[in-house]
Amino acid sequence: MRVKIAIDGPAGAGKSTIARLLAKRLGLRYLDTGAMYRALTLAALQRGVPCSDEEALLRVATSMDLKIVFEQETKSNLIYLDGEDVTFLIRQPEVNANVSLVSSHKKVRDFIAALQKEIGRQGSIVMDGRDIGTVVMPDANWKIFLQASVGERARRRMREMQRNGHDVDILELEEQIRQRDHLDSTRENSPLRKAEDAIEVDTTHLSIEDVVDKVLAIIRGADRDV
Ligand code: DC
Repeated sequence: MRVKIAIDGPAGAGKSTIARLLAKRLGLRYLDTGAMYRALTLAALQRGVPCSDEEALLRVATSMDLKIVFEQETKSNLIYLDGEDVTFLIRQPEVNANVSLVSSHKKVRDFIAALQKEIGRQGSIVMDGRDIGTVVMPDANWKIFLQASVGERARRRMREMQRNGHDVDILELEEQIRQRDHLDSTRENSPLRKAEDAIEVDTTHLSIEDVVDKVLAIIRGADRDV
């Protein structure tokens, strides 16, 4: 049987960490769909294409050589753009600042979602993103919507940035998260929203292991009424 698991939710709710660990525990492939929007944003920045220009972005999307390597052992995704490993480059602040705008264009979303659907058709998978349960894999066997308070998401982001040697202001981070939530959930094209048949899990007071256990319990049918 083909297993498809959709993990959606706002920035900082723990989607990629949880989705990757789930893929590991269940022996499935994992796809970080945000990385594809990030790679396109990086390509646009490198080519000097304005992130507001939908047609030009589509030309970048159709001409870039994007490769995703599924790491068996760690379940991470290695991202190659035009032959170069950009796995780390796509996390830089300039990409963070532009990716919401890039991913708001309909033609861009249709193009990237078609690639993601094709990857979904190739076999069992855990995908995380914003529109996986609603658009990319509406037929997923399980749809999980991860949520967490803005304060907790800002604290997680702060710890991550501090580990990478950045000095950050927690209030500024909270503001950025609020803005990104607003952009992602009010955009016209496939906004962030919980699929009707998704199960919501609030991770605010849970450790990573607790969340993974909870989602595994849902998948194994022991806990349908979260
Ligand atoms: O999950 P992330 O922070 O790497 O996502 C980067 C951006 O891409 C984020 O602003 C929302 C967008 N995105 C999206 O619109 N749809 C997805 N399936 C994944 C990400």
